Amino acid sequence: MKDIKVSEVAPKMIEALPKGILLNSKSDKFNSMVIGWGVIGVNWSTPIVTVFVREHRYTRHQLDENPEFTLSIPLEGVNPTIQHVCGSISGRDVDKEKEANLTLVDARKVSVPAVKEYPLTLECKIIQKQPMDLSTLDATFLKYYPKDVDGLDIGSNQDTHIAYTAEIVASYIID
Ligand SMILES: Cc1cc2nc3c(=O)[nH]c(=O)nc-3n(C[C@H](O)[C@H](O)[C@H](O)COP(=O)(O)O)c2cc1C
Repeated sequence: MKDIKVSEVAPKMIEALPKGILLNSKSDKFNSMVIGWGVIGVNWSTPIVTVFVREHRYTRHQLDENPEFTLSIPLEGVNPTIQHVCGSISGRDVDKEKEANLTLVDARKVSVPAVKEYPLTLECKIIQKQPMDLSTLDATFLKYYPKDVDGLDIGSNQDTHIAYTAEIVASYIID
């Protein structure tokens, strides 16, 4: 593992997000979901990330049970199998480690493993979780909550996001 500064991770994470990075959690079991929205920066004089998880995701349940996660960022493009399994199937229904052929690597400071296939890794401990208050959102962005797909459906857009802000406690690239 090669350490990398958060300031060097930031542009790589922002570049990778539109195609998807992995948000890994571990409570009942290991699980991983693709995320396309996220923020990396500084708050409370602390390096932080904020991720946005819709209320009915299995990942939401996992994060509420164990408030730690890892982020795995691809350095050589997206793997189609990982993208499909982790981005469109719920961990309620499958074991994603097996289905997506993920190679798990023990993390240094959190209980959630990292994923070797997407080697740029952030280890994160949740500081705050905040359900999004849509009454304060600029009306232009309410299009992301059109209320026409049920919350438990995999394409759910009816439920809002919960913003999880976490301290970055380690950042490195897996060899
Ligand atoms: C490119 C891409 C980006 C996504 N971004 C997010 C996101 O930021 N937040 C979210 O809640 N779901 C997002 N999803 C949907 C989840 O990855 C998907 O619903 C997943 O199956 C949830 O897994 P889980 O139920 O095991 O948590 C995204 C999917 C894709 C393909």
